[in-house]
Amino acid sequence: MKSEIIKESVEYIKSKINSTPSIALILGSGLGDIAEEVEDAIYIDYKDVPHMPISKVVGHKGRFVIGKLSGKDVIMMQGRFHYYEGHNPEIIALPIYIMKLLGVNDIVITNAAGGVNTTFNAGDLMIISDQINGAGVNPLIGENNDELGPRFPDMSKIYNDRLIDVTEKCGKKLNLELKKGVYYMTSGPCYETPAEIKMIRILGGDAVGMSTAPEAMVANYCGMNILGISCITNMAAGVLNQPLNHEEVIETSNNVKKDFIALIKEIIKEV
Ligand code: HPA
Repeated sequence: MKSEIIKESVEYIKSKINSTPSIALILGSGLGDIAEEVEDAIYIDYKDVPHMPISKVVGHKGRFVIGKLSGKDVIMMQGRFHYYEGHNPEIIALPIYIMKLLGVNDIVITNAAGGVNTTFNAGDLMIISDQINGAGVNPLIGENNDELGPRFPDMSKIYNDRLIDVTEKCGKKLNLELKKGVYYMTSGPCYETPAEIKMIRILGGDAVGMSTAPEAMVANYCGMNILGISCITNMAAGVLNQPLNHEEVIETSNNVKKDFIALIKEIIKEV
């Protein structure tokens, strides 16, 4: 993506804020309420930022929230962009570049996901150890901008060990049992078939969802430290022999909200 495009978006946001955020959070389905905990919050709707597309998924707002959380300067994405909305894959990268150019080094990417690992339960929180891009699309396809990152990014360690360590310590402190595993991304918007879930399990996936992998690819490409947390909102298709729906996803993430918010606040304090 051309630097001039990103700079126009960044200049707009800079004209609205006084702080320099160092930590970014992308909030998954039903997990957006942590934005209410932000002090001195400034809200910037995506639709007002030059070049940003708008996000329309129920349970997702479409704005940046900038302010202080646990004493740190943060920028949150309340609402994100998914391939299944029909966006150009490259545009999914734009908010990550914007946050990088605003000064962000650490990014926490969260999502709602289906539990593929049969030892998981709905309501679990899972630290993402690695990912499989089962969607087959890549936001970095296109002409490379060498100012942002290399043509062929190394992906051997996307999720940052130090941040994982901090998260595990915070989980212990809060008495939360955290799971850890591999996130498998599908394009969506359909949930998977039971046969697909069996395949994903064989391939090494522990949780399945329709986001996160492209954002992590971009953040890794431009040198950010990445932490990924999945909220297991339901067991994946075929595990419990019951149909899946978005309402259940939102309901479970609402139930987990309190623990999730406490965990994130503790992590932000410690990083
Ligand atoms: N599959 C894909 N995406 C999801 C799921 C699921 O079971 N639950 C929440 N997001």
